[in-house]
Amino acid sequence: METKIWAVNEIEQAAKAIKRGSLVAFPTETVYGLGADAFNEQAVGKVYAAKGRPSDNPLIVHVADAEQVEKYAMVDARAKKVMDAFWPGPLTIILPVVRGAISHTVTGGLETVASRMPDNDVTRTLIRMADTPIVGPSANTSGKPSPTTAQHVYHDLHGKIAGILDDGATTIGVESTVIDLSVAQPAVLRPGKITPEQLEAVLGEPVDSEVHQVAASEAPKAPGMKYRHYAPDKDVYMVAREDWTQAIIWAQGQLAPVGLMLPNDLIVEHQLAGMNFVWSLGNDDAEAAAKLFAGLRYFDDRDDIATILVAELAHTSANAAYNNRLGKSSSGQKFNVTDFM
Ligand code: TXA
Ligand code: MG
Repeated sequence: METKIWAVNEIEQAAKAIKRGSLVAFPTETVYGLGADAFNEQAVGKVYAAKGRPSDNPLIVHVADAEQVEKYAMVDARAKKVMDAFWPGPLTIILPVVRGAISHTVTGGLETVASRMPDNDVTRTLIRMADTPIVGPSANTSGKPSPTTAQHVYHDLHGKIAGILDDGATTIGVESTVIDLSVAQPAVLRPGKITPEQLEAVLGEPVDSEVHQVAASEAPKAPGMKYRHYAPDKDVYMVAREDWTQAIIWAQGQLAPVGLMLPNDLIVEHQLAGMNFVWSLGNDDAEAAAKLFAGLRYFDDRDDIATILVAELAHTSANAAYNNRLGKSSSGQKFNVTDFM
């Protein structure tokens, strides 16, 4: 199958493809998603096949308005509060399913379902035109960094999906915060741009924010968190801010070039501007999040690079999403002076 790239004035073609049960990648403010009609079980099945995704890892249902959620999930006052405060936006809400209202292929057989209203006009128009909510995991091959451009999606999925709606690079660059509101105490299952503190302020009650790292054998709360993730086929190491001087000395002593992903102030300080083994993470932490996955993909596609060193950010709640994704990409490996020098 030839994969089309549609411009934002070609939403109607994308909507038609969704309606006939085909797969369409769509833009959001976080990462590109891989869309299918949430009420067409066969179409949803194709999503798992195209990504190579394990079938016990449930999908997020994307909606264009909050009322759509009530067709398949139990929306209580608490859920309405966070929807009002954060939708459209980078927040995915887990709620109990309305029994029989949505297929097990979407929920991975759980009694709960994830929903999100993306902050992207093109995609909300697509959902309205297709006249159905659409499921949307990140539009990458399972295990690879999530796509932040249409070209990333094309790289992973061309020939496997009908088309891609191209709305340029996403702005946030890491996936949405996932909050579980199906339980007594709200819990963040995946960190994202919206922090536990912001959620607590709206909910007026404590939010559990420990992201539990689960072993592959356990039944995790967010099934997606147990798999190796966001990982290029390279050796990735996190570098703490105070270790960059040593890390650069180590990198420059290697025979093959080592990919370096670091913020502009460190690039300037170490006189690395313009070097072809350097990927800039920009001028602040938000930019770093927006550029993380693209950098990992850039080095993943370079045959001359076997190792990538990536800046860890200060451990604040706003940086939790970035550090969490980097932790997974690197399988937790850290550059440290004693082992490397
Ligand atoms: O920003 C995002 O959320 C992007 C864009 C495309 O919207 N989507 C995304 O989807 O990241 P995906 O499938 O890559 O990640 C969904 C996460 C997985 O960790 C999955 O296990 C979890 O949400 N999840 C989905 N349904 C769930 C449920 N019922 N209970 C617990 N976790 C759930
Ligand atoms: Mg994903």
